[in-house]
Amino acid sequence: MNIAIDGPAGAGKSTIARRVAAVRGVVYVDTGAMYRAMALLMIKKGIDPQDSAAIEAASEKADIGIEYRDGEQRVLLNGEDVTGELRTEAVAAMASTTSANAEVRRKLVLLQQELAKKTDVVMDGRDIGTVVLPDAEVKIYLTASSRARAERRYLETVQKAAPGEEIPSIEEISRKIEERDYQDMHRENSPLRKAEGAYLVDSSDMTIQEVVDRILEICEEVSNK
Ligand code: DC
Repeated sequence: MNIAIDGPAGAGKSTIARRVAAVRGVVYVDTGAMYRAMALLMIKKGIDPQDSAAIEAASEKADIGIEYRDGEQRVLLNGEDVTGELRTEAVAAMASTTSANAEVRRKLVLLQQELAKKTDVVMDGRDIGTVVLPDAEVKIYLTASSRARAERRYLETVQKAAPGEEIPSIEEISRKIEERDYQDMHRENSPLRKAEGAYLVDSSDMTIQEVVDRILEICEEVSNK
């Protein structure tokens, strides 16, 4: 059974998808990390995010690979493991722009479809149920209010911050989240939207475990149909 989980930034997709995959004993594929690796390449090359021809040319030449080490996904960019460099605000902002590029998407969608052909997956992203795995047995649209997502991101930032590091306000984080949602939902190529037949799960007032349990319950319902 393939499970597709889509939704906006900060809804908890990766934490939840990872747990669901562990319980079901299948591979978790984080597609956002692939778009982030492509964005990291653009940053390293000093490419202007508005220069779509340069983005296309760089993406055509880029070699993005996925490996699993101790069950954890590692992303290789031109053979180098860049997994540790992907979760910064600069990379997220660049990824939101470069992921709108058709060539970037064509290349990464192909890689994602190849992974799902080899093995059962829980795959999360923005277009998994709509484009990458439209035939996935279970499709989830996982969302939460922008306030709830900003509060979670804020707590995460506080926990990870170095002493004396400036921490953005919840309002500032919420504004960035809404900007990114807008870009992801209004782009021409594969905009974020709920796939046909997807189950809507709103995690605003749910714990991580409650969301995981709800998704596992949906998987059971689908299997028993
Ligand atoms: O889920 P994330 O924050 O790691 O995703 C980073 C960016 O990549 C985000 O702006 C949306 C984009 N993305 C996408 O367009 N399609 C996907 N399947 C996954 C992510």
